[in-house]
Amino acid sequence: MLFRQLMDRESCTYTYVLADEDTRDAVIIDPVLDMVDRDVALLREWGLTLTYAINTHVHADHITGTGLLKKILPEVKSILGAVGNTESIADVKVTEDDTISFGKHRLRPLSTPGHTAGCHSFVLDDGAFVFTGDTVLIRGCGRTDFQEGSPETLYNSVHKKIFSLPDSCVIYPAHDYRGRMSSTVAEEKTHNPRLTKT
Ligand code: FE2
Repeated sequence: MLFRQLMDRESCTYTYVLADEDTRDAVIIDPVLDMVDRDVALLREWGLTLTYAINTHVHADHITGTGLLKKILPEVKSILGAVGNTESIADVKVTEDDTISFGKHRLRPLSTPGHTAGCHSFVLDDGAFVFTGDTVLIRGCGRTDFQEGSPETLYNSVHKKIFSLPDSCVIYPAHDYRGRMSSTVAEEKTHNPRLTKT
């Protein structure tokens, strides 16, 4: 698989590009409006066809690049999770029964509300990676005091959905403010100060 983690310094947001090296089908997770030119350049350099632009949730700290990506690359379809996003617009709203495929790879949506009611995580290839958005951050989690946030709901989402993934599953969050790029389920189960309590 082709994989790249990209950063917007302004909002400390991570954007991810994943692609099948044979079919050249690609997906992007959490694109940032101001960084779309960078992302399109990378897709073109790698000779990729972007099929889906996925947002883990509707962000408060930056504007998604999805709309602009769709203008530049009209074949792109936008994806949001189906749960909790009735007010938001996307070409496809995915449930946990759906699979997002690109070449031989697939992403499975998990409804993980708590930071917002519409937050979803996306699991790659049966637990190799999980893109957690703001549900699990490295040694932290997204704030729960606005956008229909709920600490109880977030705690349950993490313990039921994210912490039941394989310990080796690599966690890729939507943000980090201290230069950390990834973690694992085992690491966060052990060391996350907010999510290791009862
Ligand atoms: Fe957020």
